[in-house]
Amino acid sequence: MDQELFSAVDAFICGTVVEEDEALRSAVSAAEEAGLPGIQVSPPQGKLLQLLVRLVGAKTILEFGTLGGYSAILMARALPEDGRLVTLEARPEYAEVARRSIDAAGVGEKVEIRVGPALEALPGLKDAGPFDLVFIDADKVNTPNYFAWALERTRAGGLIVADNVVRDGSLADAADPDEATKAQRRLHEMLSEDSRVSATTIQTVGVKGYDGFLIAFVEPA
Ligand code: SAH
Ligand code: DHB
Ligand code: MG
Repeated sequence: MDQELFSAVDAFICGTVVEEDEALRSAVSAAEEAGLPGIQVSPPQGKLLQLLVRLVGAKTILEFGTLGGYSAILMARALPEDGRLVTLEARPEYAEVARRSIDAAGVGEKVEIRVGPALEALPGLKDAGPFDLVFIDADKVNTPNYFAWALERTRAGGLIVADNVVRDGSLADAADPDEATKAQRRLHEMLSEDSRVSATTIQTVGVKGYDGFLIAFVEPA
């Protein structure tokens, strides 16, 4: 691992093709000041989410794991005027920080935060879908459960994206006892047998170290 190099390259990318404006920087500092962990997507990863939202022409997005609202702000900004994003956050104190930053970024009307464990929030989302894009980034052990739920409620041609599936490469280790890693292996095995989606996983390095995204395209019936 060459963390210094990965961070230097992210810094170059952020100085050129990826711009982080004042509202995003404020969201990061507000989260930091409130004691939230700095585990939001990196700016280049966030830009990928924005491009995916635009490529899909998404109008309805579901996010698992709000934290301080950083990825929600990015995706909401890529939505059209009448687009909507619902984001699920277990911790009320995180949701409060996120609410303020999302409003300050000017996308408050597009974003609804539902507070509570995501699995408990799902029954209440019956009328919120179908979704054009789902971003799964909450408690990693439940990623396969969130994916299975999302797959039933994502339109054909839509995307389901899951963060943190590579986990320093432990994804390749069948003997890894970590439950979060086992869940990502199970997710991949699940998808290998599911003709409803076509998926890939892209390994990433950067300011957040070595990890990766799974991107799944929902096939027409
Ligand atoms: N998507 C955010 C980062 C999310 S970090 C961004 O990139 O800006 C993961 C978040 O998931 C944390 O805020 C954590 O509190 C939340 N979380 C953990 N378990 C959860 C659960 N069971 N339901 C909903 N959110 C959960
Ligand atoms: C953690 C969560 C994330 O979503 C992430 O991108 C990195 C780390 C965590 O819970 O430690
Ligand atoms: Mg993540």
